[in-house]
Amino acid sequence: MSNKNIMEYETVELDDENSALKILDQTKLPGKAEIISLKTGEEIWNAIYLLKVRGAPAIGVAAAFGIYLLAKKADTEDYEAFYKEFCRQKEYLNSARPTAVNLSWALSRMEQVCAANAQKPVAQIKEALKKEAIAMKEEDIRVCKAIGEYGLTLVKEGDGILTHCNAGQLATCKYGTATAPIYLGQERGYHFRVFADETRPLLQGARLTAYELSASGVDVTLICDNMSGAVMRNGWVNAVFVGCDRVAANGDTANKIGTSVVAAVAARYHVPVYVCAPTSTIDMETSTGAEITIEQRPPHEVTEMWYENRMAPEGVKVYNPAFDVTDHDLIAGIVTEYGIARAPYTESLKEIFRKKQEAGNPSCMPYMEMGI
Ligand code: MRU
Repeated sequence: MSNKNIMEYETVELDDENSALKILDQTKLPGKAEIISLKTGEEIWNAIYLLKVRGAPAIGVAAAFGIYLLAKKADTEDYEAFYKEFCRQKEYLNSARPTAVNLSWALSRMEQVCAANAQKPVAQIKEALKKEAIAMKEEDIRVCKAIGEYGLTLVKEGDGILTHCNAGQLATCKYGTATAPIYLGQERGYHFRVFADETRPLLQGARLTAYELSASGVDVTLICDNMSGAVMRNGWVNAVFVGCDRVAANGDTANKIGTSVVAAVAARYHVPVYVCAPTSTIDMETSTGAEITIEQRPPHEVTEMWYENRMAPEGVKVYNPAFDVTDHDLIAGIVTEYGIARAPYTESLKEIFRKKQEAGNPSCMPYMEMGI
């Protein structure tokens, strides 16, 4: 592995000259930092499905670059033919993972660019798509930074923070969402003590969160998923910060499997749970968590992956949902780039979107506190 710090790598990058999407292959971490180039729809689909690129915001940006590159290949000057091919590729990429709404959100946003430029020559539409995808990446960085600023108001110097899965820089284009307050606090001398759940079965907490936080000099302690109760009972945790894959209009939140257990344990020990959510992850079309499709993953991730020898009997039934839903009443606040939404979320999330619309310009994010 090179001497380069993991934080210096781009999670997702456009290599337009070579018509490729470049990603840091997260399945190789922490052992090896390898950048891979993806050119075909199948390569991009597989990278998303296999979690080579993962984390809701990073998936969104990868899909935006991906659909631009696939649209760029369309060899036609006719808008109808171009749009048909665009939609075919869009549907294909969208089928890679169902839970993180950022995937369909990013692809729909790219489709809107096609529609808005329908009267222009196809070459100009391709340029507009490229511009939009680049803007989405830049926006992600600004959004994460704003989430970090709001999140930082919820904690104080020396606090213990527990996080689950990886909602870090590796899951976004910079800062992360749940880690953004931690990184900003680190820069400002807050000396947080972070507990990272290892996050079975794919170990995003151990392989990615513990890795990126320790590479950044953050005081991080890795724990197994079944240890969060112990550290909370010890009084070592002042707040839980997690990311999310889809927030419903009532505040129910889908995030990595195990998040709902952390939230239930945190309620027992009166530790507030904050969900860090870019507005791109809030799905106002979905009323409650019951409507969120939960991705089911293959059994070998539980029985064999990561083990030298298989650790379960052949043929045993395996249930392997990638995400679970945390009920809104277990969430103390939803930290967005437009402020912190508090219960009742049906009202405060609407207010967040009203502020977003009012701001018009996504780079303008006034500070505010919502709800009670
Ligand atoms: O299956 P993954 O690794 O893509 O799951 C990721 C998570 O659950 C993250 O917490 C979520 O996407 C937020 S990332 C800022």
